[in-house]
Amino acid sequence: MELKLERCTIRDYRLSDAESLASHANNRRVWLGLRDAFPHPYTIEDAKRFLQGSVPGLPRLNFCIDIGGAAVGGIGLRPGEDVHRHTAEFGYWLAENFWGQGIMSEIVPAFIDYCFKEFSLNRIFAMPHSNNPASARVLEKAGFVFEGRLRKNVVKDGKILDSLLYAKTM
Ligand SMILES: CC(C)(COP(=O)(O)OP(=O)(O)OC[C@H]1O[C@@H](n2cnc3c(N)ncnc32)[C@H](O)[C@@H]1OP(=O)(O)O)[C@@H](O)C(=O)NCCC(=O)NCCS
Repeated sequence: MELKLERCTIRDYRLSDAESLASHANNRRVWLGLRDAFPHPYTIEDAKRFLQGSVPGLPRLNFCIDIGGAAVGGIGLRPGEDVHRHTAEFGYWLAENFWGQGIMSEIVPAFIDYCFKEFSLNRIFAMPHSNNPASARVLEKAGFVFEGRLRKNVVKDGKILDSLLYAKTM
């Protein structure tokens, strides 16, 4: 897949992304917004394992955020199962040096449109931690509806946090 946007491209990962991926992903502030399955520290070996598709449990629905040819972030879908098979969770991250420039606000609506067209989904949701207002804002601007606060749903970096449930339906 390749989705060309104004300031970046969303594309399939390549094995050659390992170095760039590791250098941008190895950031505690990025890790804080994500699940613990995202390694920290994030080494070149972690990047290679991820790019070879050998990280257990990860769906093959992860895409690279490319700026100027470099892998500077990721966005991906995690499909549901059984009665949730037409629902997917999605997650995303961007290298810290690009934060606050509206880049993820450009990416999320385009990616969600792509997913609704490409996959048989009725619902896409995300669950930012309650201490992540930037992510919540990106979702709100993309037309996601705040459906509720999942209290004490997360333990991250030794802190108990709520999850903020945002969803968009087809
Ligand atoms: C969350 C993340 C993807 C945001 O990407 P970004 O490109 O910096 O986001 P944007 O610049 O498009 O938009 C951020 C919005 O949040 C707002 N914002 C930023 N910090 C904020 C804060 N502390 N409180 C309230 N709003 C905040 C910005 O003002 C902006 O909204 P605006 O356009 O209305 O002014 C990025 O910070 C990231 O990768 N974080 C680490 C991983 C992560 O948390 N992923 C999300 C998992 S659910």
